[in-house]
This record gives sequence, C-alpha cells and structure tokens, in this order.
Amino acid sequence: MKGTRDLLPAETGLWQRVEDEARRILGAYNFREIRTPILEQTALFARSVGADTDIVTKEMYTFEDRTSESLTLRPEATASVVRAYIEHNLFNEGGIHKLYYIGPMFRRERPQKGRYRQFYQIGAEVLGSDHPTIDAEFLEMLVLFLGRLGLREYNLLLNSVGCPKCRAEYLKVLRQALDKVKDKMCGDCQRRAATNPLRVLDCKVETDQPIIESLPHTLDHLCPECRQHFDRVTGELQQRGIPYQIAPRLVRGLDYYTRTTFEMTSNVLGAQNAFLGGGRYDGLSEMLGGPPTPGFGVAIGEDRLILAVEQTASLKPDDRLDIYVAWMGEGALHPASQLARELRRDGLSVEIGYEPMKLKKSLGIASRLGARFTVIIGEGELTAGRFQVKDMSTGQQEEIEPARVAAVVKEKLQKG
Ligand code: HAM
Repeated sequence: MKGTRDLLPAETGLWQRVEDEARRILGAYNFREIRTPILEQTALFARSVGADTDIVTKEMYTFEDRTSESLTLRPEATASVVRAYIEHNLFNEGGIHKLYYIGPMFRRERPQKGRYRQFYQIGAEVLGSDHPTIDAEFLEMLVLFLGRLGLREYNLLLNSVGCPKCRAEYLKVLRQALDKVKDKMCGDCQRRAATNPLRVLDCKVETDQPIIESLPHTLDHLCPECRQHFDRVTGELQQRGIPYQIAPRLVRGLDYYTRTTFEMTSNVLGAQNAFLGGGRYDGLSEMLGGPPTPGFGVAIGEDRLILAVEQTASLKPDDRLDIYVAWMGEGALHPASQLARELRRDGLSVEIGYEPMKLKKSLGIASRLGARFTVIIGEGELTAGRFQVKDMSTGQQEEIEPARVAAVVKEKLQKG
C-alpha cells in the first residue's frame, strides 16, 4: 500500500538498536513506558491537535465503525497520552509523570523520502510541571541520545509561542498584518487568516514564503512571564553547553502548543529534514476535560532518525550471530544440540544445522550467516571430549571442553 513499508530483517536490527538506546536513556531520566490504543475516537484529535490543522482537515485516517462511531488511526500520540492520564486519574498520584511510547502513527500525506503514511515515533511526555528546567533537561536528554547513536550533525531550532494571554495580543497584531497581504496568499492561508491565523506561519506553499517572512514574530510579543520562561530555558541550554538557533517561525503544525516549541533538523535528510519535534502544552489537559496540568514533550520521527543514522553514523545493529554449531555424523547430533541449548541458555546467539553435513559445507553456511565462531563436533572431538572452536575472522582454532565453550567465546567477544 502506498506510503507503507515492510521492514525486513536487514533493517530491523538497526531499528531495535535505536529503540534499545532510546529505552536506556529514557530509563536513565526516569521515564516509564505507556501503551495506548492505535485507534481513538476522532473527537480527541479534533479537540487537541486542532480542527483547522492540516493533520485534522487533510491527513487523518477516519472511518465509522459498525455502530457509526467515528474512529481515527492516531496521527500522533500526545493527545492519547493526556487522554489516558485523565481517564486513569494519574493526577491524583501528584508529582510529575514522565511517560514514553514507541509505535506507529498514521497520516495521509504525499509519500516521499522520509515521509510515509504509516510512520513510527519514539515519543516522551512530562506531565505536571511548567518549570523551564524541565524543558532544558529534556533537550539535554535528546542531545545525549543522539550522541549515543553517533549522530552529531544536526540543528536544534527553538521558539516560544507564548500563552493564551500573550497569544491573544499577538493574534491581533498578526491579523492586522495579514489583512494587508492575505489577498496575495494561497487559498488555505486566506481562510486561516480569519479562522486560525497562527497556522498561516507553517504554510509550505513556495510563493507564500516571502510574505510569511515579513509577518510579526511571537517572540516579540511575549508577556513578561513567557519571556522569563523562555530566557530561563535558553540560559539553561547555554549552561549545559547545548547549541541552539532561534527560529521565530517555528509555531509547529498542532494547536496545543504554549511557550517553548522546538525541532531538530538534519541536512542529510533533504526536504523532510525535521527528525523530531515537540514543545510545551500547558493547556492540553484542560482542553480535554482534565485538571490543569502543564506538559512538555517530544516525538522523534524514527524513520527519519534512522535515515540520518544510516547516512552519517556508524551505529551497528546488535544482531550478529555468535556461534554456528557444525556437527558431523548422526552420533554428534545429540551432543551438538545439547551444547547449542546450553550456549543459548547462557545468552549467546546460536545457529545449528538440522542435517549431518560435511565440514566444508557447514563452514560455508557459518560464514554466510556471519557467525563469529564455529564450534566443530565430529567423531574425533567426541572421542577426545573437546570441541574445536574456530574464530571465523582469524581462522584460528582451539580445542575446548564443552562446559567451557560459552565462557571462552564470551571472553573473546568482549575483547572484540
Ligand atoms: P510532529 O512534528 O507532528 O509532532 O511529529 C514529530 C516527528 O514525527 C516529525 O518531526 C517527523 O520527524 C515525524 N513525522 C511526522 N510525520 C511524518 C510522516 N508522515 N512520515 C515520517 N515521519 C513523520 C508530534 O507528533 C507531537 N505529538 C510531538 C510532541 C510530543 N509534542 C509534544 N509532545
């Protein structure tokens, strides 16, 4: 199907490695996993992402089920996380909730490199505090994560879209500016100038860009509290040694944002260069009928992150085969299977042939599978009570007692 992909074993190893690193760093910052349904009631996204956004008006997979209830394949998961937070009264526990998720999202966009209709996000949300240190520490975590993947060439773009108080003032100024130029803009912008003028700023139509460049910036119209919040975030980023660029047009394509918004982009990605994005959403819980609960979060576009990693970093999948067990003659099957079971129980990754084979053929299979070592068990080895362990990269062979094979191989693997 257009815009969807099969990820085959040649690729999934890297995906798992990236997800393992993500879980590790999220764990280090005390985030816990949340799993929400892929299907939600359509109204959830209309109320949170915004009825007038591209996502809701053009991109959602929405259908009626058999009882005529309108359901939607989630286009993003922040709304679902906040819905779950409210539905399960997590706010009663008090304090800060740090939640993460990994999974597929669905948007009916025009497919191209880095843009799919089913794509994957690794997302994380902090609920329960509007402290600017949360924003800075969160961005620090993302920088550490990218470092672990070996990704160094990217830009952190930062903006503040203010709160409802300063937003109202800003929208007045923006509307006035738009009144003078909107006739020259695309149909969507003309409509949005009246319904939701902030959305004009993320219009992608080429001919509208010079006009958008000339429009007033949210950053110049922040109230004192929002200004202070933004200055504290940027100050803390500087203290933590995290470079950033101010991007005054970065209002993001979803309506729930307040104050900090950010994206990270990579030059190797071409047109779809934002490989993650997020920000603060201090009013979202109330929009969804919950108690006032400030929030901050990110969604990493995993497909795009992996494209960037493949092009610039040397991250390797963890899916190498440690040992191939080669056995000769029916009498060797039982001891060979027993050894394979013990090695696997000890955590090694092991493959074994199911038919007796000549040694040459077994070694051919072992090297095709990329095994690091081959354990050879023939009649001679059975009589001697010691198996041959062959290092497939050097060709060197050692005779080792069956009970010590696991330990010896593990030691060699650790030495690299
Ligand atoms: P978003 O900017 O819509 O934000 O998506 C986040 C990331 O998902 C994008 O930067 C991009 O890398 C990836 N992405 C989006 N659409 C596609 C697509 N069609 N194909 C491939 N990748 C795509 C959100 O979704 C918010 N929920 C982020 C957030 C979390 N804000 C606060 N908390």
